[in-house]
Amino acid sequence: MGYPHKPHQKETVLLSQYFGDPEARTYGGWVKRGGYEALKKALGMSPAEVVEVVKVSGLRGRGGAGFPAGVKWSFMPKEKSKPHYLCCNADESEPGTFKDREIMRWTPHALIEGCAIAMHAIQAEVGYIYIRGEFTEAIRIMQAALDEAYKVGTLGANAMGSGRRLDIWIHRGAGAYICGEETALMNSIEGRRGNPRIRPPFPAQAGVFGMPTTVNNVETLTSVPHIINRGAEWYQKLSLSNPKSSGTKLFSVCGHVARPGNYEVTMGFPLKDLIYDLAGLRDGRTLKACQPGGSSVPILDRAETEACLLDYEGCVGQGTMLGSGGLIVFDDSADMVYQIMRLTRFYAHESCAQCTQCREGTGWTVRILERILSGKGTMGDLDLLLDIGEQMTGKTICVLSDSCAVPVVSGIKKFRGEFEAYITGARKPVLAVA
Ligand SMILES: Cc1cc2nc3c(=O)[nH]c(=O)nc-3n(C[C@H](O)[C@H](O)[C@H](O)COP(=O)(O)O)c2cc1C
Repeated sequence: MGYPHKPHQKETVLLSQYFGDPEARTYGGWVKRGGYEALKKALGMSPAEVVEVVKVSGLRGRGGAGFPAGVKWSFMPKEKSKPHYLCCNADESEPGTFKDREIMRWTPHALIEGCAIAMHAIQAEVGYIYIRGEFTEAIRIMQAALDEAYKVGTLGANAMGSGRRLDIWIHRGAGAYICGEETALMNSIEGRRGNPRIRPPFPAQAGVFGMPTTVNNVETLTSVPHIINRGAEWYQKLSLSNPKSSGTKLFSVCGHVARPGNYEVTMGFPLKDLIYDLAGLRDGRTLKACQPGGSSVPILDRAETEACLLDYEGCVGQGTMLGSGGLIVFDDSADMVYQIMRLTRFYAHESCAQCTQCREGTGWTVRILERILSGKGTMGDLDLLLDIGEQMTGKTICVLSDSCAVPVVSGIKKFRGEFEAYITGARKPVLAVA
């Protein structure tokens, strides 16, 4: 998508409205566009009232799991006997996902405002924005916006004159995908190795520094000011499909499309329209498959893609997940075996190696797929991959292991012929070494 951003007529732009508009990055420019009105309004409400509005809006987490944000906030202790913390998850390392970095690059004050409202709601005085270390531009822009917000007193010891302390810090990651998992992220903030923690205790009980903590994704938090400004009912009705999936969602579209980029659509938007009309296939190509929610969700074949509505239930109905909204498109030129092997290499590289199923299973899966692609696989390898996939699912501290198994298992089920072609020799090997 080129900048300045020209939304497609089928898009509904809330979060991406000012993408490509440099003035919106500045405090003055943001205020001119209605910025910080929602924070002012929220600070005049009680924390419980803010939580209730977000609950009624139906906003669900945009980081992957889709957990209702207001419900998550309500898990925080009501009596404040210890410090509470907010962690904003800006690690964004899932292959195919590139929306959070764009929110931070173009509308940093929108994220600061969302964080500040959430901090008021969960009674936190300190919030961390955990940003993937490679996002140097986003970090620089976010820090400049934070400096401005402190200078005018929007943040600090007496935020907006409310008597509330609201301090936000940027914490840079060091390039590990696992640090996007919320408990690994908290360990990383504490200066420990970014290994996921066993739950319980859950973050709302004992999170960062052992204190009650809420972790939310960048897009989730940036949606909050719109809800406070325009009301829970308005947001709740913003859906083309069903009341359980409300609001807009940014989809990062990549792979075999003519116009890759971020597209913001209302929940329930047809997946086929996003691919065919908005992003468009390349000339002369037909659709083979896609992953609508990032590299870790089950692969949809063409018929499933064409039947899928982009909301939480619509994706589950087709056997996949909305995930983070990283839409990876494969056209008829795609070698599904090779593509799946590439994904598994990523997960094998990023496994923190705490759990045996993940540490051994990810590497083993890669080696079998490489064997198949080098023409030395056997039919038994396909059953072995499915068996390993089962052992890697639902058995580990976090779901990185599952994320590696899911595309392999769904890929074999839907494109078995392509795997068999390498095994029978009908397809020439593409890797030299096994
Ligand atoms: C291996 C792994 C990586 C993850 N990476 C991210 C990430 O980069 N960004 C993110 O928001 N959530 C990520 N998550 C999900 C978080 O654990 C968590 O569910 C999310 O930040 C909660 O925010 P939300 O409720 O607003 O979606 C990841 C989860 C796993 C298991």
